[in-house]
Amino acid sequence: MKMKNRILILYILLVGGLFFTTCTNRDLKVYHIGVSQCSDDEWRHKMNTEMLREALFYDGLEVEIRSAKDNNQAQISDIQYFIDQKVDLLIVAPNEAAAITPSVEMAYKKGIPVIMVDRKIESDKYTAFIGADNYKIGQDAGNYILNMMESSARILEIRGLDGSTPALERHKGLMDVVKDAPNIKIVGSIDGGWLQKSAMDAMDSILSVSQDIDVVFAQNDRMAMGAYMAAQKHQCETKMKFVGVDALPGKNYGLDLVMQGILDASFIYPTEGDKVIRLAMDILGGLPYNKDNELSSALVDNSNARIINIQMNHISEQDGRIEHLNGQIDDFWIRYSVQTAFLYTSLSLLLLLAILLGFIFKMYWTKHRMNEKLSKQKLQLEEQRDQLISLSKQLEEATHAKLVFFTNVSHDFRTPLTLVADPIEQLLADSSLQEKQRSLLKVAHKNASILLRLVNQILDFRKYENGKLDLSLSTVDLKEQLEEWSQGFQTLAYKKHVHFNLNVEQNVDFVMELDAEKMERIYFNLLSNAFKYTPENGVINVVLSMVQRPKGVSFLLVISDTGTGISTEHIKHIFDRFYKIDINHSGGSGIGLALVKAFVELHGGSIVVESMVGRGTVFTVEIPVRKPNGEEFQLQKGSCITPQTILEELSDAEEEIVEQSESKESVLIIDDNKDIREYIKSMLADKYIVIEAENGNVGLRKALKYVPNVILCDVLMPEMDGLECCKRIKSEIQTSHIPVMLLTACALDEQRIEGFECGADSYVSKPFNSQLLLTRIKNLIANSQRLKQSFSDGHTVSKEVVNEVEKDFIDRFRSLLENNLSNSELSVEDLGEQMGLSRVQLYRKIKALTNYSPVELLRITRLKKASALLSSTDKTISEVTYEVGFTSPSYFTKCYKEYFGESPSDFLKRKNS
Ligand code: FRU
Repeated sequence: MKMKNRILILYILLVGGLFFTTCTNRDLKVYHIGVSQCSDDEWRHKMNTEMLREALFYDGLEVEIRSAKDNNQAQISDIQYFIDQKVDLLIVAPNEAAAITPSVEMAYKKGIPVIMVDRKIESDKYTAFIGADNYKIGQDAGNYILNMMESSARILEIRGLDGSTPALERHKGLMDVVKDAPNIKIVGSIDGGWLQKSAMDAMDSILSVSQDIDVVFAQNDRMAMGAYMAAQKHQCETKMKFVGVDALPGKNYGLDLVMQGILDASFIYPTEGDKVIRLAMDILGGLPYNKDNELSSALVDNSNARIINIQMNHISEQDGRIEHLNGQIDDFWIRYSVQTAFLYTSLSLLLLLAILLGFIFKMYWTKHRMNEKLSKQKLQLEEQRDQLISLSKQLEEATHAKLVFFTNVSHDFRTPLTLVADPIEQLLADSSLQEKQRSLLKVAHKNASILLRLVNQILDFRKYENGKLDLSLSTVDLKEQLEEWSQGFQTLAYKKHVHFNLNVEQNVDFVMELDAEKMERIYFNLLSNAFKYTPENGVINVVLSMVQRPKGVSFLLVISDTGTGISTEHIKHIFDRFYKIDINHSGGSGIGLALVKAFVELHGGSIVVESMVGRGTVFTVEIPVRKPNGEEFQLQKGSCITPQTILEELSDAEEEIVEQSESKESVLIIDDNKDIREYIKSMLADKYIVIEAENGNVGLRKALKYVPNVILCDVLMPEMDGLECCKRIKSEIQTSHIPVMLLTACALDEQRIEGFECGADSYVSKPFNSQLLLTRIKNLIANSQRLKQSFSDGHTVSKEVVNEVEKDFIDRFRSLLENNLSNSELSVEDLGEQMGLSRVQLYRKIKALTNYSPVELLRITRLKKASALLSSTDKTISEVTYEVGFTSPSYFTKCYKEYFGESPSDFLKRKNS
């Protein structure tokens, strides 16, 4: 499992635990009940307290109470507020019925259930009503007064707020009783607005006029007390009886006033806020309920006031206890919730901790195991390192010992070798020596010199490694020196058939300060290497030039060969001491090139090597020029020969050299008779290179290999006769162009016809005289020269002159050249491959057919195309150079001038003038 997934699971567990704890018992619906009270007095307070206490028994029930303080407008705003709050249920005790009716209807119409308490409105657009029967209270008050005042009585009524329904109903109840009692008289009915002060003021005014009153019936206890206080003021309170409504428990409230004897009686006007809330919850809970819910009232006078008070106190105490218990339950519930949350959180944390511990343990274990593995590996590595150190030490010591040994041995060898070489030299000077003795001494001298050179190389190299090799500068003309040093190699080049050229940049002064001996060793080593790896007919070029570098002028010595080349694997180590490319190759000590590098570096220079296997190698030595006596070196502009030019020239030169070596024409003699072969050979040897074959098979093989200029073939031979051999020669593309002359003892016309049918070009009957044979051969070669002319000029060749096979071949070759003109990498091998011939076969065939080598043909084609481009387009010389496959504009210019007799820039000047 991935770390990310594990963390996600932990997170879900933790959040889940917390969510579970917070959700328990909290999934009940939360109700919001709004209570709009008309007044703010003790009766309302009692009712509010009862509602709030009852609400505690319902989870999630919120009761919000607002009081309008006897103000209609304030109550309208309160109701609007509850509507806006989208309360679930509205409880309203309207101040005045008419004023509050529209607000209640609006709430009801909006779908809010409305409970009217205590007072009513002028509409039935409400959900339920709960309260006492005020009409009956009015009646009960009337009847009480009737019973109390047996004879007669004069009653003063103090009414509540006129617009409120209890005031109207209580008045009506009283009136309905009094109207049937003749000796009871209502002396006055005044408005007290449910308030003590208003009642007191009104009573005061009346008493100031008349005190002829037996009973004061105030519609609530507050107004009754106000009237009593006014009576006290007029000192007539004992003459009158006071009856009120509400009978609230508590100091100086109705019940207490009865007990004090201030009021004669009061009627319990029940608050019962608990019942109001229960009704509300029934409605909200969708339970059955009554629209009208009457609460009962009761008379309180001095006969029952005390007992009622006791009961009231008891009830109040119980309420207190209930509230206390409720508080405790709340506390317990909070504690329970906290503990449950804590428990689940702790469990989640524990689980988390356990998982984390698991992770840590696993990680620790993995780390432990990896550490063990690592320390094992470290130990192994340390062992290996120690082994390597000791091995390299051993190697170093061995190398050192070897070097010391070589040095010592070299020292020991040098004197005896000198003592061998010197006497030989002296002996060689003796003119009386016989040729045989001289040649033996030469061999001895040569080998003694080689040994001396090797020994000196080892000693020099040790000196260099020990920092003891110094430069011994002298003023040298490097150009002259190179020419001198090269002389020794000319003979070697001649013997090995290698074409060796030294090119020195013209008009440059090469006089400088050099260690001439070390420079000679550098040159000697590099040239010896080149000769060692360059096969017969190869090319070795040495180019000496000057280059301007940011820090001054340097000379470049480029030694290139067309030898076997060095692979990239070997070239990296070519300058390492004792490094030998071919360990099986016995020659070379592996120190020569290391010493060359050391000598070059001693001169403050550098040496680089570039090579391609099968193509050749180029060593470039660059050494900063020190002029004698601190002279400034003057480098002439445009005189620099680049290595690029050298390489390009080199690859062309190689081909051309093959051509030079082919200056003599060759003749292949195929005859099973050795004497005849010898005889013909003796006739031709002066003028031609003669190749012999003892039968048709061998002849065919040699014809394919050497591609001679003419073939003389006997007709009657074992294995493969001359006719068959001729046919095969003419059918192979490599040899089809070679003129074949059949030699036969039989001069019958029939045989001649048969021979010509096989493709033979000429027929000579034996015995033949040498002059005839030579003339015939000469003619055949001359014929083919004529063919060459027509091919090389690019004219279409007529069928009579040349056979179709050759014409096709040349056409194919021409289009191959034209299609690959821009490919500067195109080699004779590539061309041969495309034509299905080897490099030599292609060369000889093309040469025989066109008189040009493939490279020459390629170059001529390029130059012709270049000339066409220069005359027909606005391209620059360097653009044309690359387009036609030259890689250096200077070489292009050189070739162009050679071929067309004027340089491309002169041509352009002429063109634009
Ligand atoms: C309280 C009160 C009581 C009275 C009732 C009538 O606000 O004035 O004294 O009995 O209202 O609604």
